[in-house]
This record gives sequence, structure tokens and C-alpha cells, in this order.
Amino acid sequence: MLIGEIKLLNCIDCGGDLKLQKYHLSNTIINHGLLECVSCARCYPIIDQVGIFFRREVLHEYLEQFEIDRIIEYGYSEALLNNVGKKKISMDAQVKVAKNWGSLFSDFNSLSDKKLLDDENSQGGITFMKRFIGIDFSLFAGKTIFIGCGGNGNETYHISKYKPAKIIVAEIGVQVYTIKKNIPEFESSLMLIRCDIAFHPVKEGTAEVSICNHALQHVKDWRAAYQKLVETTKEKGIISICVYSYEHNFIMTHIVEPSKVIIHLFPLRIIKWVSVFPAVMIYLVIRLIYKPISHISEIIARKLPLYEHMMFWSHSTFKYIFCNCYDLIHAPISYHFRENELRELSRANNVRIQKLENTFGTLWTMVVDKV
Ligand SMILES: C[S@@+](CC[C@H](N)C(=O)[O-])C[C@H]1O[C@@H](n2cnc3c(N)ncnc32)[C@H](O)[C@@H]1O
Ligand SMILES: [Zn+2]
Repeated sequence: MLIGEIKLLNCIDCGGDLKLQKYHLSNTIINHGLLECVSCARCYPIIDQVGIFFRREVLHEYLEQFEIDRIIEYGYSEALLNNVGKKKISMDAQVKVAKNWGSLFSDFNSLSDKKLLDDENSQGGITFMKRFIGIDFSLFAGKTIFIGCGGNGNETYHISKYKPAKIIVAEIGVQVYTIKKNIPEFESSLMLIRCDIAFHPVKEGTAEVSICNHALQHVKDWRAAYQKLVETTKEKGIISICVYSYEHNFIMTHIVEPSKVIIHLFPLRIIKWVSVFPAVMIYLVIRLIYKPISHISEIIARKLPLYEHMMFWSHSTFKYIFCNCYDLIHAPISYHFRENELRELSRANNVRIQKLENTFGTLWTMVVDKV
């Protein structure tokens, strides 16, 4: 985050402008600092180049101990409000979303290695990313891109190669701190924010393109989050989301989701190891059934359930499939969108659908223009 970019943000409590009170630079980037709202005096910390913006009533549910320690060490205790050092145990599903994905991304950190991202045909490679996002990547040149729910940075990595002027990433979990690791050359054009995208601090009309890939289904109030995504985008800008589809997803909607009532009674590390079983089955079924049949006759193979999805996963190593199964099973909030709901969502937000595609049979990619 650069000093000059603070003007792109406002206070999430009252909407007031923010002023940089204290800061420490490394080169021209704010390494750590303290922002203060000029209207209500609420303070927000920046640590390790990441601005932390949570509503005051939930701040301590999201903060991890290492963040509290760092905030105190840098002398920004006013950002902890009146609860210095206090940590609340939360049962809120959105807080669980943040914690679970923080843990998942730390366990599967190696899947965001540059080598894998640079492999065009790997699951994290550019070919699939373009399918998910559904926008011509050459449009990113010179633009400000807002990425909601950026995970550990796969979209940011790929989009940074297409010469955007700036990328702003809003992510609820601690994986936001890892996003810069693969793109040191892009650091000065990157703004990282740890926040809930339904309540993020980026001002209205900031981005030319806003993207939320594989994530809106995990946001408690996805309607509010989508509205915010549209508001963050300039007039004539583009908004792209890629979400779970309800259609063609019987196994998820009728088997996995109902089973979660029981599975989620167990701690996360057990859920992780439970995910090995479907992962082994899927890995074998793809290699022993889907791939051989598709080599013999694609017409016959297409009649198999989830054919497109399985062929997409056939490009993945076992570790990727394990991570995918864990991702699907642990998610504390998962919503499956019907086509009609997405059409309705775009109507409600006054945007025009440019593309609505059932990607790999199990996802919807919706690209809209803000008219
Ligand atoms: C399935 S991961 C996808 C990450 C990334 N977009 C990708 O495709 O690699 C979902 C991400 O959404 C984030 N997320 C979920 N709810 C969020 C919210 N309300 N605000 C911001 N991020 C959120 C999670 O922490 C997680 O990193
Ligand atoms: Zn304020």
C-alpha cells in the first residue's frame, strides 16, 4: 500500500476519510502504519503491508494472536479499540470461514508455488483461471482491478502479468499476508486488505474491473457482498464472479451438504483426513474410468455423470484433488446458485449480463457490465 493510495479507502464504521497517523516505509511501500478516521477517530492498523479492516464489534473475533502482538509491538494499540489483548472465541460461521481457509491455505501452501502457477495446464494455471473469470485478460492493462476473496493470491498472480495499474485484494483470512510472495516486482502496485468483502473499505467507483472467483458462495450475506462489488466498480466497468452452481451438482447439494451436519461436529484436522477418502476415490475413478473411456469415445464419456468436471480435475495431481475435497467438505458456508438467482442478482444491481456460462458443469461464471 502506498501513501498516496490511502485516499481510495474510507472508514467502514462511518464512511469518513482516513488519515495516515504513523507509518514505517520500506522503499515507498507502507510496511506498517496506523490509519485514523477523520470523522469518528476509529483507527485501523497496517501490518506486513496489509491493512486490517473489521467492524468494531467483530474485530477481536478475526484477529489472530500474532497480529495483536505485532500491533502492540509497533505501538498501534489504539487500533485494538478498548479490548487490547482480548481474544473472543466465536461461533459465527463467517469467522469460521476465515479461520478454516487460513488453515487450509497454510497446509496446502505448496499449491501456490510459482512453478505450479506457471504450468499452463495445472489447476492453478492461467488456462483454467481464464475459464473461471471469463474476461479477456488483455483488458486488464492499465486498469485498477479489485479482487474480492483473493485467497492466497492465484488470481492476483496471473492478473499481475497483464500489466494492470493496480490490484486491490480484499480477503478475510490470514492467507492475505502470503499474496505478495510470488510477485515482488508488483508489490508497489498491490494493495492488500484483510476484511469481509461485504464490509470492505474501498471507496465506490474505484475499480474498472472487479472479480470474485470461487468465493461468493462462502459469504454469509452474498447479496450484500455482490452489491458492494458492483459499487466498488466504476460506471462502464466489468464485474466477474465464479460460483458453485446448483444445477448439475446433485452430489454436492444432496449428499455432501446434508452430510456436513454430522461432519462439522468434528475438529478441522479430522475433517481434513476424512477428505482423503473421497479424494482417493475420485482420483482412481478419473484414471480408471473417465480418462480411458474418453480416449475410446468422447461421445460415450460425455454421458458419464459430472464428465466435464472430472475431466477438469483429470489435470490435477492427487494433492490438488485432496485439497479440493477438503475445500468442499470443510466450508462452513456454501451456497449453490441457480441460474435464475444470478439473473435476478444482476437485475437487482442494475448490471447487464455479458456472459453467463455453466463452467465445467458445476460452476457459474457470470460477467456483467455496469451500465
Ligand atoms: C475457495 S477460496 C478461493 C480463493 C481464491 N479466489 C482462489 O480461487 O484461489 C475462498 C476464499 O474466500 C475467502 N472468503 C470467504 N468469505 C469471505 C468474505 N466474506 N470476505 C472476504 N473473503 C472471504 C476465504 O477466506 C477463501 O480465501
Ligand atoms: Zn469513521
